[in-house]
Amino acid sequence: YKQLQSFPSDFLWGASTSAFQVEGGADVDGKGPSIQDAMGARHPDITDFSVASDHYHRYKEDVKLFAEMGLKAYRFSVAWSRVLPAGRGEVNEAGVEFYSNLIDELLKYNIEPVLTLYHFDLPQALEEEGGWNNRATIDAFVEFSQLVFERYGDRVKYFLTINEQNVMILHGNAVGTKSESKKQAYQQAHHMFLAQARTMKLCHDMLDTAKIGPAPNIISVYPESCNPEDVIAADNWMAIRCWLYLDMAYHGEYNSLVWNYLCDRGYQPDFEEGDAEILKEGAQPDFISINYYATMTVAAARNDGNDVTFREGDQQIMYGEEGVYRAAVNTNLSKTEYSWFIDPVGFRTTLRQVWDKYRLPIMISENGLGQKDELVDGQVDDQYRIDYLKLHIDQMQLAMADGVEIFSYCPWAALDLVSTHQGYGKRYGFIYIDREEFDLKELARIPKKSFYWYQDLIKGTTQV
Ligand code: BG6
Repeated sequence: YKQLQSFPSDFLWGASTSAFQVEGGADVDGKGPSIQDAMGARHPDITDFSVASDHYHRYKEDVKLFAEMGLKAYRFSVAWSRVLPAGRGEVNEAGVEFYSNLIDELLKYNIEPVLTLYHFDLPQALEEEGGWNNRATIDAFVEFSQLVFERYGDRVKYFLTINEQNVMILHGNAVGTKSESKKQAYQQAHHMFLAQARTMKLCHDMLDTAKIGPAPNIISVYPESCNPEDVIAADNWMAIRCWLYLDMAYHGEYNSLVWNYLCDRGYQPDFEEGDAEILKEGAQPDFISINYYATMTVAAARNDGNDVTFREGDQQIMYGEEGVYRAAVNTNLSKTEYSWFIDPVGFRTTLRQVWDKYRLPIMISENGLGQKDELVDGQVDDQYRIDYLKLHIDQMQLAMADGVEIFSYCPWAALDLVSTHQGYGKRYGFIYIDREEFDLKELARIPKKSFYWYQDLIKGTTQV
């Protein structure tokens, strides 16, 4: 790994998961239901969501494997309704203990816990009171964060606020966050911004050494051509899809371009007195975390009724917005089995852009390849995943050579888990979990070829 020697020896090589996708134990030991449990119940045709990877019961075995892989960090999320079954009020001590034990287990092996507060799994009790449409959800989130800081703040140094707020707002249907209109979605976004701001401030008020940051999905964009109309459409897309979320976390203000777009379309959220001050005061990120899978390409809107949905053959592949921009295909890029573009160079571009704009250290909290892996003679030869990760790590290294400060890389995922809406067969892990969509088998843990590759890479880069 000579070419990787520029990674600092304290670089946090890690891997990621999220609670509802990996834990199972959805209704055990006092856990309350989340909107993800409700979604699983509504879609029994996709997969058996209830057990996921059974990490709730097998976390010790899993953490031991993480240690064997050489992980320096593990990014996981706390299921809000496991510790506060109704979203607020009564604390479920058994749930609190689960994460406490998980954190201790990680620390036993010197693995840095990276804790995401909220990863798509709003407590169902809050959803029934209006979810993020309801301002009261902000207070509930702050109460939940306070509990997390109180119980785990002595051992956890890195906190992420909200996973992929931008995906929840723009593609809520895919990840279980519902809204009836764009106007309503942006009101939800405003409430999440307030919740995030209060939580970042609370974290620093309560904990001296903890670091906290936002975790949106950030990807750079290409105009379909050098036609200036395509170029400005791409610029608009980037502001609406990405910069809004980081600008708010960093500056505590709406990106002005996006604010004008919101007002122009009648989507602007209602502000209450004091909101502007809360947003400003809470703009305290210590770092920026991003999830990156692939870039986007857009063209100028045609305003012909077809800007929203782009189709290639029979497949609906992306979304645009009527009169603002439309999605386009980048013929320079290859695609995964699930039609996600593969763009390692775009990863470098994205990292440089984020660094240029904010000059805060960057963590990569997700990046990875979803594929239908095959278990053959007790082994999984996922060379395609190794190829994907290697290309991205090379580009990350080049970004670091460009001067971008990156301190952690946590690909998705540490082990196989349920995908957001495409079942268990779409696998991302370094560790294969032996189950099918509906046949749960023994849920045995089997390191894939990529596990050993990542183990070598971590060893090779941290012992220089
Ligand atoms: C990210 C999410 O959007 O992408 C994860 O934070 C998710 O929760 C991952 O699993 C991969 O997406 P999918 O839809 O293939 O599960």
